[in-house]
Amino acid sequence: MLITNIGELTTNVPIGDDRCGTLTDAAVLIEDGFITWVGQAADAPAYAEVVDAGGRAVIPGFVDSHSHLVFAGDRADEFEARMTGVPYAAGGIRRTVTATRAASDEELRERLAALVAESARQGTTTLEVKTGYGLTVADEARAARIAAEITPEVTFLGAHVVPAEYADARDDYVDLVTGPMLRAVAPHAKYIDVFCERGAFTADEARRILAAGIAAGLIPRMHGNQLGPGEGVQVAVEMSAASVDHCTFLSDDDVAALAGSNTVATLLPGVEFSTRQPYPDARRLIDAGATVAIACDCNPGSCFTNSMPLMVALAVREMHMTTAEAVWAATAGGARALRRNDIGVIGPGKRADLVLLDAPTRVHLAYRPGVPIIERVYKDGVVIA
Ligand code: NIG
Ligand code: FE
Repeated sequence: MLITNIGELTTNVPIGDDRCGTLTDAAVLIEDGFITWVGQAADAPAYAEVVDAGGRAVIPGFVDSHSHLVFAGDRADEFEARMTGVPYAAGGIRRTVTATRAASDEELRERLAALVAESARQGTTTLEVKTGYGLTVADEARAARIAAEITPEVTFLGAHVVPAEYADARDDYVDLVTGPMLRAVAPHAKYIDVFCERGAFTADEARRILAAGIAAGLIPRMHGNQLGPGEGVQVAVEMSAASVDHCTFLSDDDVAALAGSNTVATLLPGVEFSTRQPYPDARRLIDAGATVAIACDCNPGSCFTNSMPLMVALAVREMHMTTAEAVWAATAGGARALRRNDIGVIGPGKRADLVLLDAPTRVHLAYRPGVPIIERVYKDGVVIA
């Protein structure tokens, strides 16, 4: 299939200073789910099946590298309370744990499928999904198994919070996470994650948990520096984590550590939007040379949206990123955060994951916030939305 007459094509194959590798009047050839040729429409090879983009823009599919979508229950009441001034607290996670444990496999599967379909309609072609609302061996293994049915990007987050029944025995819970729970979940997961924050896990606990995950063959990632300053970023860099996510409260040392590492700083501006917190300082990270990704962090507590176009708009409006930086961070940046080099880029040999916008340029993602301009979504060359 040849997609031709693309008014603006974001390839993410750098051209000089343009990291987005922007082409105008472009075409993309897709064969067997992969991209086999990219260039000027006028130079395109003849092909039987032609899709005319009508001068519209095409971008790589969004790579949403952070979500918590295996859950039951609803916490809209917490959101309402926050809007009247009640601060977000990690403790709310335990409410979702109670609801999730009580749900059937079928209910969890149906809710997950509905959220995945909703993401796809908004241009997401790769989605990471975390466990973390089971917090027993059986419930974490179940969450990972269900997540693995829809994505290869599954993260074990048994270290989300210490569950209520271990409130007076947190060391025993860390033993459980690093022992029997890890053994039960690892076959279904690619990554291990820890919520390293006051009210969740300490830096030393995070080190122990990530080390156990690495020993079990998982790639480390981290929730860090979300609710206040802390050691999350330093531990993530020290453990060569693929990504440290949130990065809302950073010291100069944290920024320098990220800039000197291959750990991606994943910013989740939907959380600040939904918890009314100050946004992370994306400019400081980018200007220091850190690799920045943006993702949704869709979850029932701190941010219940899976709209990557909204994240792009927030990154531009609230975090002072250029639209080019934001779109790169939501596609190629997410791919780096997942250590994937087959997605996030429109170039020969890459997977044919791309989004046709009902707009002439990618700037419209930020320029027209809240407007459904995602016209068509291809994953592996197949229309999924
Ligand atoms: O990434 N920070 C920790 N976990 C989620 C929130 C989970 C919840 O509140 O249910 C987050 O923001
Ligand atoms: Fe999260």
